[in-house]
Amino acid sequence: MRQALMLAVAAAVAAVAPWPQAMAQTEDPVAADFDKFRAIMEEANPAELFEAKGEQLWRTPRGPKNASLEQCDLGLGPGVVKGAYAQMPRYFADVDRVMDAEARIVHCMITLQGFKREDLAKKPFSSATKTPDPVSITTYVAAQSAGMKLAPQQTHPKEKAAYEIGKEIFFYRAGAYDFSCASCHGVDGQRIRTQPLPNFTRPEQAIRAIQGWPGYRMTGGVMHTLQWRLNDCFRQQRFPEPDYASEMMSALLTYLTVNAQGQEYKGLGIKR
Ligand code: HEC
Repeated sequence: MRQALMLAVAAAVAAVAPWPQAMAQTEDPVAADFDKFRAIMEEANPAELFEAKGEQLWRTPRGPKNASLEQCDLGLGPGVVKGAYAQMPRYFADVDRVMDAEARIVHCMITLQGFKREDLAKKPFSSATKTPDPVSITTYVAAQSAGMKLAPQQTHPKEKAAYEIGKEIFFYRAGAYDFSCASCHGVDGQRIRTQPLPNFTRPEQAIRAIQGWPGYRMTGGVMHTLQWRLNDCFRQQRFPEPDYASEMMSALLTYLTVNAQGQEYKGLGIKR
């Protein structure tokens, strides 16, 4: 019922007559309306149901090793969840690489619980009928950083390297349209149809890459993490989709998060 209502309102917001291409975001009445609508919806965000499911999955002994994730180290010590999401991506010595939150959760599910990477990577994104466990768990973990300032780590050489690699990916042009991420997200005041495209290279706009993710997406009524969002943008860019929870995704997320560092992460969101 609620889902149908949200879809109807979203459609109404989207159906407002188009505005001139060059109109700046701050003067954009469609975006402003949607922001108001989203603020109301976030008071009863369905994402919280996935957070509750994720918490249960985190605490319950599961998998071939019948273990919970309570010994999973998200960077602040085994089992510490509060604040961990806001400080990722970061370097993890046990794997000698930088990991974002979802990549780390997948790693813990494999090492602590005995799940197989191939199985987790087979269908990693939510559909109308299924929300993969790492999505719910990432939702739970992210929610425990709500209200905190983004502080992705940039001390280890591999963390600095991840930023540079992510930046290179962001500006790398190729494919049928010769697009890069920057073609859509590196220019001020751009939009596609009714959707304003934030310029993620500017610190004050970069927060929009991270804010509201994981988010409940009204289109299709599903819960998604940033892994899905970036994957879908690679698809829009006509690039091959990267491997799930790969080092390359962590690098791109490092670039986006570091650009937004110091700004407040408000927690789970609602996306159109
Ligand atoms: C062809 C244009 C295009 C390209 C190229 C593109 N994106 Fe996007 N991106 C979009 C659109 C459109 C949206 C908004 C989608 C929506 O609201 O449903 C979006 C949304 C996003 C968001 C979420 C923003 C928010 O407000 O929640 C992120 C993060 C993002 N893109 C990152 C990337 C990255 C990283 C790349 C390069 C791999 C990329 N995009 C390439 C068009 C593009």
